[in-house]
Amino acid sequence: MNSETECQLELKSINTYYGKSHILYDVSMKVRKGELVGLLGRNGVGKSTTLNSIMGVVTPQSGSIIFEGNNICGLQPYQIARRGIGIVPEERRIFPTITVRENLLMGQKPAAGSQGNEWTIDKIYEYMPLLKKLDGNKGGYLSGGEKQMLSIARSLMGNPSLLLLDEPMEGLAPVIVNELCGMIKRINETGVSIILVEGSMRSILQVCQRVYVMAKGAIVFDGSADELEQNKDIQCTYLEV
Ligand SMILES: Nc1ncnc2c1ncn2[C@@H]1O[C@H](COP(=O)(O)OP(=O)(O)OP(=O)(O)O)[C@@H](O)[C@H]1O
Ligand SMILES: [Mg+2]
Repeated sequence: MNSETECQLELKSINTYYGKSHILYDVSMKVRKGELVGLLGRNGVGKSTTLNSIMGVVTPQSGSIIFEGNNICGLQPYQIARRGIGIVPEERRIFPTITVRENLLMGQKPAAGSQGNEWTIDKIYEYMPLLKKLDGNKGGYLSGGEKQMLSIARSLMGNPSLLLLDEPMEGLAPVIVNELCGMIKRINETGVSIILVEGSMRSILQVCQRVYVMAKGAIVFDGSADELEQNKDIQCTYLEV
């Protein structure tokens, strides 16, 4: 990555604390425009804290986070969302008492840039035909996989240029995981950059172009999905395989 313009997001040596607990140690990461990057690691290593640091939910004590050329470190989450970063947190945040369509409408906001290629309900239904079938159903009656699909779809309605997905496959059956992986790949192919956080590598290596592995709050591996697949040492030491 030699051109600065190619790099959409760059974390430069961030250190994040919760109170006095030091959680992230000099974490550096890059995401190119249009890239699908995996962030892997066992429970409690700091994956969600990394996403929360990007989103401004917690502000790193040192280091910088450059998004599309500007340092966003210290901005409020709503300001960061307005600049075009969307997040789907670990708990699937959908409204149970309103319909799928109404849930989608709640997520609507204009695109930060002037790309003119905004997500609409029709476009969402084209990419996720299953949701179209559930259009009038209440959010609370959806299955786990359907809820996850809806929460991703709802964040797309905010037209992010970078989407942060925190363990979207957690607790889902393998067949649903495959479907979600395909969907995430198709979303990425529309030009949305994605950071995909997962605990296990099985499901995501097929869709990620590049992968970071974290352990104890630090990045311990950075390479292609193929390189990680071949690196048994990293897998055995730092991942559930
Ligand atoms: N709000 C908080 N206050 C204090 N400590 C926290 C808070 N959130 C997380 N932690 C701690 O920070 C560390 C990293 O947590 P984090 O949620 O980032 O891990 P993770 O890699 O996302 O784990 P998991 O795979 O279980 O989701 C853990 O030790 C956790 O207990
Ligand atoms: Mg987490």
